[in-house]
Amino acid sequence: ARSLVVGRQEGSQLPAIDNARERASSVVSMAPPRAGAGAVLLVVVALLFVDAAAAAGGGMKMATHGEGANLKASPGASAPPAAGGSAEQFRGKARLPSFAAPRRYELFLRPDLVACTFSGSVAISVAVSAPTRFLVLNALDLSVNRASIRFQALAPTEVVFFKDDGVLVLGFAKQLPLGEGVLKMDFTGILNDQMRGFYRSKYQYKGKERNMAVTQFESVDARRCFPCWDEPAFKAKFKLTLEVPSELVALSNMPVANATFAGPIKTVHYQESPPMSTYLVAIVVGLFEYVEGMTTKGTRVRVYTQIGKSNQGKFALDVGVKSLNLYKDYFDTPFPLPKLDMVAIPDFAAGAMENYGLVTYREVALLFDDKSSSASSKQSVAITVAHELAHQWFGNLVTMEWWTHLWLNEGFATWMSHLAVDSFFPQWNIWAQFLDRTTTALRLDSLEASHPIEVEIHHASEVDQIFDAISYDKGASVIRMLQSYLGAERFQKAMASYMKKYAYSNAKTEDLWAVLEKETGEPVKDLMTTWTKQKGYPVINAKIKGNDIEIEQAQFLLDGSSGSGMWIVPLTSRCGAYDTEKKLLLKLKREKLVIGSQCGDRKKGGNFWTKLNIDGTGFYRVKYDDELAAALQNALETKKLSLMDKIGIVDDLYALSIARQQTFASLLHLLYGYRGEADYSVLSHINTVTTSIAKISADATPALAGDIKQLLIKILLSPAEKLGWDPKKGESHLDVMLRPLLLTALVQLGHGKTINEGVRRFNIFTRDRGTSLLPPDTRKAAYLAVMQNVSSSNRSGYDALRKIYKESAEGEERLQVLGILSSCRDKGIVLESLNLIFTSEVRNQDAYILLRGIQPEAREISWNWLKENWELISKTFAGSLITDFVETIVPLFTSNEKAAEISKFFATRTKP
Ligand code: BES
Ligand code: ZN
Repeated sequence: ARSLVVGRQEGSQLPAIDNARERASSVVSMAPPRAGAGAVLLVVVALLFVDAAAAAGGGMKMATHGEGANLKASPGASAPPAAGGSAEQFRGKARLPSFAAPRRYELFLRPDLVACTFSGSVAISVAVSAPTRFLVLNALDLSVNRASIRFQALAPTEVVFFKDDGVLVLGFAKQLPLGEGVLKMDFTGILNDQMRGFYRSKYQYKGKERNMAVTQFESVDARRCFPCWDEPAFKAKFKLTLEVPSELVALSNMPVANATFAGPIKTVHYQESPPMSTYLVAIVVGLFEYVEGMTTKGTRVRVYTQIGKSNQGKFALDVGVKSLNLYKDYFDTPFPLPKLDMVAIPDFAAGAMENYGLVTYREVALLFDDKSSSASSKQSVAITVAHELAHQWFGNLVTMEWWTHLWLNEGFATWMSHLAVDSFFPQWNIWAQFLDRTTTALRLDSLEASHPIEVEIHHASEVDQIFDAISYDKGASVIRMLQSYLGAERFQKAMASYMKKYAYSNAKTEDLWAVLEKETGEPVKDLMTTWTKQKGYPVINAKIKGNDIEIEQAQFLLDGSSGSGMWIVPLTSRCGAYDTEKKLLLKLKREKLVIGSQCGDRKKGGNFWTKLNIDGTGFYRVKYDDELAAALQNALETKKLSLMDKIGIVDDLYALSIARQQTFASLLHLLYGYRGEADYSVLSHINTVTTSIAKISADATPALAGDIKQLLIKILLSPAEKLGWDPKKGESHLDVMLRPLLLTALVQLGHGKTINEGVRRFNIFTRDRGTSLLPPDTRKAAYLAVMQNVSSSNRSGYDALRKIYKESAEGEERLQVLGILSSCRDKGIVLESLNLIFTSEVRNQDAYILLRGIQPEAREISWNWLKENWELISKTFAGSLITDFVETIVPLFTSNEKAAEISKFFATRTKP
């Protein structure tokens, strides 16, 4: 999910992380838990989880995941009841056994925001449904007080911990009675600096640094906060109690039931939740203020921000309230909880997280300030809020049965967020922008190394990696394809019945298809299975023969080879005019599309043209024969094509030419046809293509690279000149977004005039930060222009940027600067910028922003830096945050030799 709209990463400074690690590995040195109201007194020395190998008494090596027959064993649901045997049978499994399942958690937590530790106790009502003498659940990096463990009156005779699996096995002397019993235990843990589990985030208040305690549990990190059945299918009710300093705001999923104060400490009891999955449980404790609104049905909605910033929460609040209203109607199901809170968190690994009733965001993904934020950040706040709130139904009320079906959650929320934002802001033309998602997914999915939307997950450590463009963007795109095939109304009705059928429970991909199939009578399952269970997608070859168009599908692969996949393709076509639309469900390899006179007169040319995959709703590419391609180019130049169709033909030709199925010259020729274009989303795709061409040609045809840049400049220059640098009164949101897009592109292509103007404006800006010459939208282009001329011997522009970064109070402005600090040719400057990652100037969550700025000219120096610092990087950046270091630097190279060198380096440095 790193590549999603809102950037994400983790936070806090290096020394702190080292400390936390030290503390985490020496639990013994922790302050002993204090007894307090409602707390269970811990009598016995906290027992560290014993490594299972030692506990099992010998020589057993810890299983590594990913291999071995038992890992492939089908998910827990079918695991045999374990009447006897040893704890060892639960090691290395994909899922927890199902002979015992939680029904209700009573969870007490007492975070210590100064020592950065927490203690807690949990009482879980567990239903034992088959004979067993074991209880098997999850826990990780917790210190459980062994003496406190009881199931009813029984103490375990055996406590085994599989660290690699995050699994805790409790063995009892005798078989457990069938039916419900209560499992209790006390534990302590560290408020870590890794932005997962129960962690601390830092903020400033009245000039002093303070800590807040925050949770981030998705995917498999609830187990780092309390022992639990940490899988989405084990839904249970939660009743939380927190003991925190009286002056702090303490939030959880449910509203407060009551609070009791004992001087500086308060005990807050929350209402009991409906059945929900562990990954959606959330807690936030810190100093906040809020703005509040109400849905039409009277649900209270709040946006919590740091003190002094609540104004910046108003836009998100408005989108939030509107989203809840819209989703209630769409799903014909009320918002299931009594309240919704949304909170901005200073250190946050993802962009946002849909915790039930308590949605958390990184600050830039939630806050919007009319004066200091850009139009594109407004849009991404709207999309993010709409996305997370879609999850309140799709994900939280109906939850995927297992991580294999994660795409249902993420693909659907991504698609739905566009539906919502389109209805709130029709002038944003968000469905045209959605094609960014589709093309991103098409690109990734044309690689042999891609994976199907539905992936088998054999181990908890495999879950993080599927939060990628396949789950999100291909997922959202095939949902759009299906909706457009079934029709918006039929689709919505079916979604509402799906929601009602599986509310408070779990569903698999097939369950959704079954409901859609039943409601519409269409072959949804067969159709969609070809898209979700196999990787890749087809290219449709279209050739004109007389009055027919012959079509043939073949798997498209970017390396130019052709795969053997076959799909059921909802094919659409338009010809000659936009009121003649044809649909065909292509099930075979080849088929004929009959075209009639409405397609124009083929012999006369002129108005004759045919476009397949109307508005890019299909997840496939189209390759036209020369005649059809020429007719389309003509239709483009005579302005007959819709925005989305304009995007489709250029992206297809771009991919086809990379795959060497079409010539590079034909791509340049088509691109030139866009030189008069003025639309934001079309030009944003053109920009993606031109940027890529400029990069490729620098290596592939260095002698021509200069000329190619001139041609690309020509294409972008006229719309850029029309817009200029200064915003115009009353201009559209899309023009406001287009301006920085074009200016930035021109600067990057080395357009002298634009660079000079950017530098000129920047110089005025450094003297007068309030100047109207550089509003938030165009700042990045000016910063980039400045960086073009910076070098170690001419560093005044660089120093000025660093100063802005240091002094600015505005989140977005700081990040804009951070994003360009590494984007220059000077090796010394690039290194200096990269090393900021290891200082307290850059929160860990923001490192990737700096990395993204690296230009191909600096690839060698950046790669060496990565190699030299790999140890430190892999220690500092937990979980999936480390991917960005690889994803930003490695793709800058283009040679086979380098590929070999890079593979060799990582061969011995793999990570889950
Ligand atoms: N459920 C995810 C957050 C998440 C991502 C948790 C990865 C664990 C691992 C959330 O709904 C989400 O998708 N957030 C996006 C932003 C959204 C607007 C696409 C993100 O964090 O990038
Ligand atoms: Zn999501």
